[in-house]
Amino acid sequence: MLLLTTLRELKQVSTDIQTKQQDYQLLVQQAKALLSGESDYIANAANISALIYNNLADLNWAGFYFLKAEQLVLGPFQGQVACVRIPLGRGVCGTAAATGEIQRIADVHQFDGHIACDAASNSEIVLPITHAGKVVAVLDIDSPELQRFDLIDQQYLSQIADLFVQHSELGSLDGV
Ligand code: SME
Repeated sequence: MLLLTTLRELKQVSTDIQTKQQDYQLLVQQAKALLSGESDYIANAANISALIYNNLADLNWAGFYFLKAEQLVLGPFQGQVACVRIPLGRGVCGTAAATGEIQRIADVHQFDGHIACDAASNSEIVLPITHAGKVVAVLDIDSPELQRFDLIDQQYLSQIADLFVQHSELGSLDGV
């Protein structure tokens, strides 16, 4: 009986993973369609924020910060009003920008220096946006759920961030 329950649960987990991947594949196609033919990075950041925020479950913020004079400055986003300037190296966003590495944080309250723009946030993923070998921006996505983002989220959100880079003219931005 216990074995049967476990098998049923495993099957459900496998179905959930497949559904999640299929949903993301559709989202990536929608991102491609939205970005094709447009190179303005503000317009593209605005639409990618809206696409992510309105199609992924359990989010309370999705948006971009752009690097200007060693600070991350708030760009287009969806969600509650947010901190406008984040020094390089500070918080989850500043760490992603300074290291060039994706920050996938299961519990932001355990992250030293986390900046709580919205008290509702409990987990977060921040993807660096790189142009000509330099980080020029970050894509920040927050959730009120703990451990909201897994490796599947990371894989597909990275694809969307890459599409943003491929389609946007980012040459005027400062980089680090
Ligand atoms: N929590 C982020 C700040 C940005 S807001 O969440 C929109 C951080 O620690 O960098």
